[in-house]
Amino acid sequence: MTYSIRSGVGSRQAWQPIVAFVCTALMAGAVMVQAADPDPLQDFCVADLSPSGPRVNGLPCKDRANVTSKDFLFTDFRTSGNVSAKGTNAYPSFATVFEYPALNTLGISHVRLDFGIGGVVPPHTHPFSSETLFVVQGSIYTGFVSFDGVLYAETLQKGDIYIYPKGTLHFQINVGTGPAITFNSLNSQYPGFLVAANQLLLSNIPAAVLESSLGISNATDLNLLEASVPPNW
Ligand SMILES: *[C@@H]1O[C@H](CO)[C@@H](O)[C@H](O)[C@H]1NC(C)=O
Ligand SMILES: *[C@@H]1O[C@H](CO)[C@@H](O)[C@H](O)[C@H]1NC(C)=O
Ligand SMILES: *[C@@H]1O[C@H](CO)[C@@H](O)[C@H](O)[C@H]1NC(C)=O
Repeated sequence: MTYSIRSGVGSRQAWQPIVAFVCTALMAGAVMVQAADPDPLQDFCVADLSPSGPRVNGLPCKDRANVTSKDFLFTDFRTSGNVSAKGTNAYPSFATVFEYPALNTLGISHVRLDFGIGGVVPPHTHPFSSETLFVVQGSIYTGFVSFDGVLYAETLQKGDIYIYPKGTLHFQINVGTGPAITFNSLNSQYPGFLVAANQLLLSNIPAAVLESSLGISNATDLNLLEASVPPNW
């Protein structure tokens, strides 16, 4: 029996397995859209960051005999980030699988954001992850732009949480009178961090494309824009 979709000659009964298959595939797809990283097949797999082993969809596991409780401890967030280093008076300190190898396969990572007064984390996306932001200190105005172009934004106080749905453009600014700190959680071991202005203006996209896309008239305007973007993000 053949189930060729192109021939169109199958009987009604012959199509049923195809319909069942397509429905199953669509349901599986729906589940995958909701999930972030795939579930692990073991309790832990502390990443071996040495470049030797092959990598398919994650990192190889450190030899279990060499894993200790210290592998599961991450202490980098004890110290604040250097808000002078990025050009916007804010700094993200990452705890992804590359800083914290015990996260490997577990579908989670964290960021500590430090802000000076008026500090900004520029609009960016995480293509592989949703994110929550928890205000540890200070007051943050933050928001995201939905897929239909609507801005959802709020001013948060210490203790508040905001969520950025997976893949949406979002930003943060310290609107308080002193420094601010947030602790963010992401449902991917490596969420990706794409800063919109830097992606657009510092990636060698041809000037003709950018000028037309931004509606600006000549290369002088573009050079000004490109020179204005804080390059370290
Ligand atoms: C485990 O640790 C020991 C001691 O540090 C080292 O000699 C050995 O090569 C390690 N084994 C693996 C598989 O990494
Ligand atoms: C913070 O960053 C600035 C700018 O890159 C640098 O000059 C300064 O030395 C850094 N401070 C510390 C404590 O690392
Ligand atoms: C670029 O365009 C602006 C107006 O958009 C104009 O004021 C400026 O003179 C132009 N510069 C050059 C070099 O053509």
